[in-house]
Amino acid sequence: MKTLTSKLAFASVLLTVSVAAILWLLVTSVTQKYFHSRFEETLNKETSQIELVLCREMKRGTNFTDATKYVAQVFASQSRRITLVNAAGVVLYDSEVPADSLRFLENHLYRQEIQDAIVRAAGTSERVSASVHHAMLYYARKSAEPLYFRNNGTGVNVVFIRESVSLSVVNHVVNAAQFAMLTIVLCVVVIVVVASFFIARRLTSPLVHMVKAAEEIQQGNISRRITHISNDEIGKLALTLNDMLDTLQADISQLKKLERVRSEFLANVSHELRTPIFAMQGMLETLLNGAVDDPNVNREFVQRALRNTERLNVLLSDLIDISRIESGEMKMSFRYFDVRSMLANVLSELRPVAEQKHIQLRADFPATESTDVYGDRDRLRQVVENLVDNAIKYSEPDAVVTISYTVSDREATVSVADTGIGIAPEHLSRIFERFYRVDKDRSREAGGTGLGLAIVKHILEAHHTSIQVKSEIGKGSVFTFALQK
Ligand SMILES: Nc1ncnc2c1ncn2[C@@H]1O[C@H](COP(=O)(O)OP(=O)(O)O)[C@@H](O)[C@H]1O
Ligand SMILES: [Mg+2]
Repeated sequence: MKTLTSKLAFASVLLTVSVAAILWLLVTSVTQKYFHSRFEETLNKETSQIELVLCREMKRGTNFTDATKYVAQVFASQSRRITLVNAAGVVLYDSEVPADSLRFLENHLYRQEIQDAIVRAAGTSERVSASVHHAMLYYARKSAEPLYFRNNGTGVNVVFIRESVSLSVVNHVVNAAQFAMLTIVLCVVVIVVVASFFIARRLTSPLVHMVKAAEEIQQGNISRRITHISNDEIGKLALTLNDMLDTLQADISQLKKLERVRSEFLANVSHELRTPIFAMQGMLETLLNGAVDDPNVNREFVQRALRNTERLNVLLSDLIDISRIESGEMKMSFRYFDVRSMLANVLSELRPVAEQKHIQLRADFPATESTDVYGDRDRLRQVVENLVDNAIKYSEPDAVVTISYTVSDREATVSVADTGIGIAPEHLSRIFERFYRVDKDRSREAGGTGLGLAIVKHILEAHHTSIQVKSEIGKGSVFTFALQK
């Protein structure tokens, strides 16, 4: 696998090397030009000095042999070759060729530098010398005035002064300069390569950590977080991922909890259904096994079976209510209605039930005629019915159950109070859970499903209000909720 580090490092190395190569090409051509022109300048200066010397010697009347000897002494060297040529191109003197061999030399008139000197007073040329057989840089100058010398009885007329230097000498200097630069460039390249590797590793290390964390998360460790947070975009990404994981983890645990609640609910439902069904089954079997013909018990058993079907009926309607509320299927129809008449209705409806248990049912309403509140009348009636039903169920005979309400500017507060058995503090927070009962047997015996208060809580939540409960064991309980006016 190609790592991001190696890719980044490779890219920067490639870039550096190509920049260095381009720079190198540029530098070599520039240095070559520079040193060649420097040499040309030197040759220009020297030939002009030679011209001056020759001119002086001519005026002194020095003969050609002596004059050239003098020039050779001063200017000629291993690297400098001096050639004097007349107007016809005949070589009169050459520092590298003995005087008696001069006549074997070619005519120089058509040498490039001489031709240029004829046109522009000076000329240069680079080529392999026909006389000394290696690459030379030539510089020729045409003297400003004719330089006439006596020479063994005849006379010579020097017109072109030419000086040349071996190109190997020139290139040696160029190469030395280029080598120095090459060393520098190579050093820079090495530094850049090493640096880019480290920089690339530094840049990618948070990503490497992220990949590691992601792999662990993928293997199921959902609580794993990215710990190396750089202060750049990668760091931001890491923080965002961590936040995402937090949300995800929360969602997952929420889902797990829901799943648990759901399966608990299902277990509870099956259990609640089974009890009355088993009871009915038992009674019907007993009847079939002969009890049906026993006038002492047959009515009793059939009645008990019927009571269990009623129980089933209540349970199912509560279950339907709760599932419709929780799935959001139950639509509330809000309108203004008189809370007083609704409470009075519940009161008269449940009065026979209370009387049967010898429980006093009282109303404690304010003097005002009617009080309109905003809500779903039928659902709120269900709430009060549930509360009064509980108050009756969980009270001993001769207890008092009071339905009351008070009115303020914005709301009406409804209370259902009893002087019944009360609820211990540790149960108070749980009685609104589905199927939660303080005393299971008592609740069942009284026909409770354990769903009443859960339904109450849901309905009030849909009215954007909540229910409060105060209770003391042995003294009684008060359930209170407020309704918007
Ligand atoms: N007024 C009350 N006095 C004492 N206990 C109560 C009262 N109201 C409710 N409870 C307790 O809260 C539990 C839950 O009530 P509820 O949801 O109506 O279920 P259910 O009445 O069917 O048992 C009851 O089983 C009972 O233990
Ligand atoms: Mg109840």
